[in-house]
Formats: sequence, structure tokens, C-alpha cells
Amino acid sequence: MYKDTAKLKFDALKGNKDALILGIESSCDETAAAVVRGGREVLGNVVASQIDIHKRFGGVVPEVASRNHTLALPGIIDEAISKAGISPDMLDAVAVTYGAGLIGALLVGVSSAKAYAYAINKPLIAVNHIEAHVSANYIADPLLEPPFCALVASGGHTLILDVPDHNSFVALGGTLDDALGEAFDKVARVLGLPYPGGPNVERLGREGSPSIALYKHPKGVRGDLSLSYSGLKTAVVNYVNTLKQKGLPVPVADVCASFTREALSLLVKTVTEAVSRAKRKRLVLAGGVASNGDLRACLAVAGRENGFDVTYPAPALCTDNAAMVASRAYFMARDGLGLADLSLNATSRIAF
Ligand code: KG4
Ligand code: ZN
Repeated sequence: MYKDTAKLKFDALKGNKDALILGIESSCDETAAAVVRGGREVLGNVVASQIDIHKRFGGVVPEVASRNHTLALPGIIDEAISKAGISPDMLDAVAVTYGAGLIGALLVGVSSAKAYAYAINKPLIAVNHIEAHVSANYIADPLLEPPFCALVASGGHTLILDVPDHNSFVALGGTLDDALGEAFDKVARVLGLPYPGGPNVERLGREGSPSIALYKHPKGVRGDLSLSYSGLKTAVVNYVNTLKQKGLPVPVADVCASFTREALSLLVKTVTEAVSRAKRKRLVLAGGVASNGDLRACLAVAGRENGFDVTYPAPALCTDNAAMVASRAYFMARDGLGLADLSLNATSRIAF
């Protein structure tokens, strides 16, 4: 019964430019819900970060994240709907991140979304977290349309994509090991900076000089556009630990600046090469690391020199949020994609 009505209502989304979609996101340590109209207009967007809870552990503890999502999500959904100034029956669909991410954390969002969609008798749309990050750019720039290339750089992913249309994502390159955000977080940790490390490494790096030769990074772009951060991360850890063992002071700001320069230099060259190979005129940035000012600045320069524009969302839409999930669901539903039923499961990995 639910399945049949959900399908009919899902099909009606194709022609509905004002579709109101509730997005739910719980893949890592942010519990989030948002209501978005027409894929681009955010009516209510609530993010409850668990950063303070995980800080004392120096990183996200999966079990703790799941438990806190369970506690927070019902209130967060109500708040997003109330901020949007609507009632639940006015929603046209419920969208949820089903992967990739921490399996227990994802399951909380997926179960809640299923229950909510069933209760209000509206279709459920399953959203890929990485694709959702890209969609944040449709909110940031209301006129943005594909084709373009995208760099998704977060705590879990560093991926260069070609996006020829709203619903196609082709991997052009990316990391073979650690994600860039993960490397930022590990460097911060060895330097004794609080979690999440990225913003702290960026802030301190501005006060330092990128003068330390940490690592003999291969300078040239690799033919397969692959990247690697585990060697650089280990080099920083060894450098810092050696100083500590010798009882010497660690030049924290200089390490931050030197790591950032090293981490970004090959990334910028590789992304530039990807955009050129795909023959695109625009690059969009997504994921938590996309809020890094140095990365934005370096790519803006590369864009000017190589003939492509660079778009990026405000920091609050770069890090995990549910507005991007609702936005992604809108563009999927418009093309008849993504309808899920109550057997939807979470998945920790999704390959491109
Ligand atoms: O997208 P996101 O919120 O969660 C994941 O899907 O992983 O990204 C979080 C990551 C963390 O590793 C955090 O340290 C990094 O993004 N990050 C940054 C900055 N802000 C957040 N990395 C570098 N510079 C920043 N300003
Ligand atoms: Zn993310």
C-alpha cells in the first residue's frame, strides 16, 4: 500500500519544480536535517555537530556517534521543519544519505528516514553522500548547471569527478590511500591540535613559513591522476616525533604551513590536468576540505591560468549537512532516479 502511493508521488516529482524535500544526514559526526525547495532554495537547515563530544577522543568514535545521532535526530528533524515554516504533510519526499560513511551512524539516519517517510506516506529517496557534497554547489550558485568537474575532498574521500549532467558522476582520479581531510586530522593530532584538525592546521599555517622539506613528493602529475597522502602524513609524524624524542621544540606553525603546501601542490596540478582532459570550463569544490582558504586560492589561480572558473559553497555547506542531501534528491527524482522502499539498507562504501 505504502509502496504504491510512494511510487505515484515519486513519479509526480518529475514535473514539480517546487518540490519540498526533507534531507537527513548522519554518515559521520554531524546529525543534520534540512528542507530544500526545488533543489536550490534552503528553507530550514539544522546541523548538530558532535565535535565537542568526540574532541576528547581525538577523532570520531563510531559507537558514540551512532548513539548521539539516535538521541539528536528526532529533535533536529522537527527543528528543520519548523524553521522551514511548513508542516510535515507539505513535504513531497524524504531523502537520506545511505552511504558512504560509518555503518552504525548511517543506519540511524536510514531507519529514521524510513519511519518518517512511512508515517507521512511520502516517497523515500536514497542519496549517495559524495554526490550530495557536489550538490551543495547548486545551492551556492543558483545558476550552476553541468557539465563541470568536481573535487570532493573530505575526511573520507578525495575524488576528482567529471559531472557531464545532473545524474552522472565519472571518477577521473583521486587518492589511493588516505583522504586529504584525514591527513589534515592526523597531522593536527601529532601536533596536539584539537579535532577536527583541518581548520586548526589552516589557521596556524598562516602564521608559519612553508620552509620545512618534509617529504620528497613526486612533483609530476601521475598518468592515472591518482594521489596519495599516507607518505606525507607519515613524514610529518616522523618529523615531529624525532624532534620530541630529542627534546627539541616543534615549530608547529611551520609544520602546518609546510604540510599544507606539500599536500596542496600536487592536488592542484592533478585537478587542473583533470579539468583540461575532460575539457570542462568549470570546477566545483565540495567536502569539508573545500572550506580551506589555501586550497580555494590555489585553485582560483590555476583556473585563471588554465581557463576554468571555480565555484565553492560557503563553509557550512562544504562540511556535512542535510541541505545537500535534499538538493541531490531533487535532481535524482526529476530524472526518475533514487526511489527506495522500506528495505533500504546503509552501506559503508560506495565505489565510483
Ligand atoms: O565533509 P566533511 O564534513 O565530513 C566527511 O564527509 O568526512 O569533512 C570533514 C573533514 C575533516 O577531516 C576536517 O579536518 C576537514 O574536512 N576540514 C578541513 C577544513 N575544514 C574542515 N581541512 C582543511 N582545511 C579546512 N579549513
Ligand atoms: Zn562528508
